[in-house]
Amino acid sequence: MVDPWGYLARDMADEHAAIIQYLQHAWRVGEETGCALEEIARDEMRHLNWLAEAMAEAGQPVRLERSPVAQGEGGIADLLALDVAAEEGAVAAYREQILALGPEHPLTPLLERILADEEHHREEFRRLAEAAGEEAVAVGEPSEGAPWDGLAHEKYRRVLRYLQLAFTAADPALGREMEEQAQVQMRHLGWAGEEWTRSAGRAVIPPEEPPQAPTPAQLAQEALAMPPTAGELGRLMEIHDAFARRRIGALTSPWSVGSLKPK
Ligand SMILES: [Fe+2]
Ligand SMILES: [Fe+2]
Repeated sequence: MVDPWGYLARDMADEHAAIIQYLQHAWRVGEETGCALEEIARDEMRHLNWLAEAMAEAGQPVRLERSPVAQGEGGIADLLALDVAAEEGAVAAYREQILALGPEHPLTPLLERILADEEHHREEFRRLAEAAGEEAVAVGEPSEGAPWDGLAHEKYRRVLRYLQLAFTAADPALGREMEEQAQVQMRHLGWAGEEWTRSAGRAVIPPEEPPQAPTPAQLAQEALAMPPTAGELGRLMEIHDAFARRRIGALTSPWSVGSLKPK
């Protein structure tokens, strides 16, 4: 028996896991490969959004469950192999669903659109894995209590809360605003995750209990309560400072180009 909403619920959990897996790998890998991973994580966020929208439009419950996330050890290529495997799984799942639903089903065009992205991601990860060679990644302990983990967890919780509000808001304007807020929180999560990985070698974002669909009153309250607290702003300022110091350090490092060297 074909259960399209069961498919979409599972797809959402898989997309959610892909976002976290690629972000965590991006923080460990860094540099250009890390940027490519983050770019693909953003595609997965779009997929999660599209699937949630389709569910919400049909009056289906939208819950932010998360499938297991592969951490990985060894080198950059080993991490990327896990990401290739995740994309192979996604391609197989979407193909199977498209086949089961058939060409006339209203959800098929959406699944085909996502499938095209997943095929592209799979190839991109294969290419990156080949280019990565033997380079190792830092393997720190995924320790609780590292300087940035509290902030990263809090940011992740907020991303989920805002997304849940975005997916369930009856008012489209409020939904869009909540989505934008989720993106802001996602950016902060990225900063905190990068700092956390830099200081501890590895950041692991544990799964959160999916937030419940809020009532309109709770929704209004959440929106008011969500602006960053003073303490949180302080931590964000620290992150900005740390970035700025590294940037300035890079700009003021000794000249290496002979002809431009001050006499
Ligand atoms: Fe995806
Ligand atoms: Fe993908």
